[in-house]
Amino acid sequence: MSVALNEAVSFIKSKTRIQPEIGFVLGSGLGAFAEQIQEKVVIPFQDIPGFSRSNVVGHAGELIIGRLGEKKVAVLKGRVHFYEGHSPEEVVFPVRTLIKLGIHTLVVTNAAGGLDKKMKPGELMVITDHINLTGQNPLIGKNDESLGTRFPDMSEAYDKKLSQKLFSLLKKLKIRSSRGIYCGVTGPSYETPAEVRYLRKIGGHAVGMSTVLEVIAAKHMGARVVGLSCITNLASGILKQPLDHKEVTETAKIVEKNFVKVLKEFIKSL
Ligand code: HPA
Repeated sequence: MSVALNEAVSFIKSKTRIQPEIGFVLGSGLGAFAEQIQEKVVIPFQDIPGFSRSNVVGHAGELIIGRLGEKKVAVLKGRVHFYEGHSPEEVVFPVRTLIKLGIHTLVVTNAAGGLDKKMKPGELMVITDHINLTGQNPLIGKNDESLGTRFPDMSEAYDKKLSQKLFSLLKKLKIRSSRGIYCGVTGPSYETPAEVRYLRKIGGHAVGMSTVLEVIAAKHMGARVVGLSCITNLASGILKQPLDHKEVTETAKIVEKNFVKVLKEFIKSL
């Protein structure tokens, strides 16, 4: 693993002199944040050794490195998903690469279905914790001690202080928001109404098909993590109409402005 990571890191370093401190993963339809970056270098995933291509509509698949205000950032615009047929290791490879590159804080974002009837499509949810229901773990197999320990602690997977800061900022900016637990499933089929009732019962507030594997890998390597979900729809069975991926990307698009605004402000405090 380390050899492949070193190769990816060397390749990226050959493209830019900027040493990023903060990493972002931008979920479905949330790519506009990347437009804010200055002095940027854009590297398509397919050019980076070890990176897999993302084929999902709304996930471009580019690494963007540059500056945002005072901060040096690395942004994964788009991500690879387990449901595309990539292994958990392939799914987390880009995040591992960013941490190897030197980022100390990772902001993960995603589109998610709201499990709580009171949620409104378009609201943002600060992720306070997750439930990994994928049945997968990127750390299965021989542990690479150079990356982290065999049994990483997950008692504060999402940094409490930073999450609180992000939530306060959302309130200050008067952006409709909540805090809650993200349930990570594999997809690609959406949940059944019975599954949604189950997710609510076990304590979830949102459900999505990404993020949890990346966060496990990031914690393994000792990075600080903050998570933000864009609630693009209410989960299956809450409303009468069936779910459609178009609804997810369209809602994300509407929220884009607020999403960019809060992250631009939040980065100042990192
Ligand atoms: N379920 C799972 N993943 C999702 C959803 C959903 O309702 N919305 C956006 N991603």
